[in-house]
Amino acid sequence: MKASASVDIMPPRGMRDFYPHQTGLREILFDTWSKAAQRHGFVQYDACIVENLALLKRKAGEEIVDQIYAFNDKSGRKLALRPEITPSLARMVAARWHALSFPLKWFAIGQCFRYERMSRGRKREHYQWNLDVIGAPGPAPEVELLTTALSAIADLGLDSAIRVHISNRALLADLLSHQGISADRHADLFLVLDKRGKLSDAATSEMLGKNGFTAETTAKIFELFRLDSLDAVRRHLGKTTPALEHTAAIFEGVSAYGWGDRIVFDLSVVRGLNYYTGTVFEAFDVDRRFRAVFGGGRYDHLLEQIGGRPIPAVGLGFGDVVVMEIMNERGCTPSVPAAADTVIGYMEPSQFLTGLRVARALRCRHERVDLAMVPEKARAFFGRASHAGARYAIYIGPDDVEKGCLRRKDLEQRTEATLCLRDFIGDAS
Ligand code: HAM
Repeated sequence: MKASASVDIMPPRGMRDFYPHQTGLREILFDTWSKAAQRHGFVQYDACIVENLALLKRKAGEEIVDQIYAFNDKSGRKLALRPEITPSLARMVAARWHALSFPLKWFAIGQCFRYERMSRGRKREHYQWNLDVIGAPGPAPEVELLTTALSAIADLGLDSAIRVHISNRALLADLLSHQGISADRHADLFLVLDKRGKLSDAATSEMLGKNGFTAETTAKIFELFRLDSLDAVRRHLGKTTPALEHTAAIFEGVSAYGWGDRIVFDLSVVRGLNYYTGTVFEAFDVDRRFRAVFGGGRYDHLLEQIGGRPIPAVGLGFGDVVVMEIMNERGCTPSVPAAADTVIGYMEPSQFLTGLRVARALRCRHERVDLAMVPEKARAFFGRASHAGARYAIYIGPDDVEKGCLRRKDLEQRTEATLCLRDFIGDAS
């Protein structure tokens, strides 16, 4: 028989494997996210990873097919791996409309897949924490969302490292109208402005030109980006508007919570996803060296678009990739706890059953116990136990079984206690 050609042992491009240490880190992040959500009264849901392609197209247009993993199943159904969770959430809410009591405060942690051009902070698969409030017009939901995400940021030790940049698409529309740019041009303009973070001003002007905006209009648009506070916007408009009041109330709320220094007004935040209707925000590291840590906004028409009723909604998505990169760079990556509290080893095969009984007794007390699979020399066992980071090590030799005792080393305190074997396993040895 011919030897078959070897297969690629690396994961497909853009996908990640999680070895135990990385899985441990990921679980700490998930736990931090879940606890922050629960502290703020969000309840967890989950949605299917394979989604109907038609739903995703309804939300994002035909061109989404090029940006996602879309496929036909064996019966010819048009499906896709979800690129985000929001459309599935909207579908789930629309499907159980009558049974749900609003407002909903829901959170999910799930894997999303996007056929992205790979770059720092962007993979073709990532985990996303989603927080959404459905059925409340705000600004309270925005305040609740932002303080929940900021609370997780603080738990990860990044409170001084991250700022949330907040804007409002309706407010930008107010300003554009005030500059004489008619409402039917705003959607095109948002698309160009969304790319502004990645483009130079010259490239943005060129793109605006290509989209039919004159040099005079382009100058007026650039003028708006010099408005760096809500007061400046108010002065520029010479009046207030509902979007301005809404945004001001979010700043007031987050400041009353004590975290006003963690948010900044930034009209340049537009957000590419076209379902956002009002508030939009993105969180970045203070030095702006990484991509967005999280982003979200208000999407008051999405449920209606997919066949539900009109209902206000606001939410955010917080990915695992960028936050881990920032923690890594700042040296505040959490340490992964040891796999076991106690490691048990033995000198000869005949002590295995004693070890097994001791392990059972400890496990019944909810201790995490790792029992050796093979006999070991004492030196090798203690080396392995301390490398594993366990607190206690129990090594059983023939003398211990004969004497009915158990020597338990505290590897942290460097002490040893002699325990009575009977207390663990009764009369069995
Ligand atoms: P998004 O801005 O597309 O929003 O993604 C949210 C976050 O997910 C990003 O800030 C980033 O941390 C992470 N992320 C997105 N794409 C990638 C990628 N290719 N690789 C690594 N991380 C990534 C949404 O997805 C909206 N559905 C959020 C939302 C929830 N809006 C309302 N509710």
